[in-house]
Amino acid sequence: MKIGLIGNGAIASVVTDHCEGTNGRIEIVGATVLASDGPSVGGHPTFKNLGNLLALGPDMIVECAGQKAVSEYGPEILKAGIGLMVISVGALADADLLKTLDAQARTTGAKVIIPAGALAGLDAITAARIDGLERITLRTRKLPMAWSGAPGVDGVDLEAIAAPTVIFRGSAGDAARAFPKNANVAAAVAIAGIGMENTQVELIADPGVRRNIHHIAAEGVFGRLEIDVQAEPSPDNPKTSHLAALSIIRQLDKLTENIQI
Ligand SMILES: NC(=O)c1ccc[n+]([C@@H]2O[C@H](COP(=O)([O-])OP(=O)(O)OC[C@H]3O[C@@H](n4cnc5c(N)ncnc54)[C@H](O)[C@@H]3O)[C@@H](O)[C@H]2O)c1
Repeated sequence: MKIGLIGNGAIASVVTDHCEGTNGRIEIVGATVLASDGPSVGGHPTFKNLGNLLALGPDMIVECAGQKAVSEYGPEILKAGIGLMVISVGALADADLLKTLDAQARTTGAKVIIPAGALAGLDAITAARIDGLERITLRTRKLPMAWSGAPGVDGVDLEAIAAPTVIFRGSAGDAARAFPKNANVAAAVAIAGIGMENTQVELIADPGVRRNIHHIAAEGVFGRLEIDVQAEPSPDNPKTSHLAALSIIRQLDKLTENIQI
């Protein structure tokens, strides 16, 4: 299977290491990167534009770059009939972009795949929604400075926070707008379950945590589930959970497996 990447950072590097160890079962043919990026994280060539990558005929392009890359390249990739894996899921909190990608995918038959990223249990949530979900909440706990720079904490002195403090409570859609760089998990839970406006999110600045902690609770006809993830940060990018890179690898492996789980 031929894979193209968008991005040349922490996640791209872990995915590349894995694929290069598969004896050609999963081959990275190239990557689209920014002009400011350093040398390729693997043996594959890098390009400053998408056209060169599309010309290599990848079966799937994996976005591991950022929300802007999803809107910039997503529609063109699907238009070319190539599958798109999206890890910057927060981009899909934009309903117009989601509609555009959906329409383009329907036209060419190419699929958009969303890996679980830093979360777990999205399989159970998508299954449970078949019979109807009544409520889903996501509570995320990070160090105070992990929230810095977001519009949602404008005017908040994060360095002064000495005890766990709720910095946001509202819908996944509002969370994505107020905390765009932390929106991936909220958007993923919302897309898997009951949508941006019905998914309740609480964000907590907690000086006592070492890992990024996500707690999902869901209730519906199926019963009730609770999922706790305490994710180790990536050694190359402390804002990224290492599990997110592993979730992409898992999805790529799955596409090549005869017996799938
Ligand atoms: N779904 C999840 O749970 C989850 C978890 C962790 C990270 N993420 C997201 O994954 C993405 C990548 O994370 P990372 O740790 O590898 O980041 P990183 O900063 O280490 O690397 C990003 C790479 O993408 C490149 N890039 C950025 N915009 C680009 C563009 N428009 N075109 C081409 N290349 C571009 C950068 O130059 C860099 O090489 C981020 O958007 C992050 O928010 C999602």
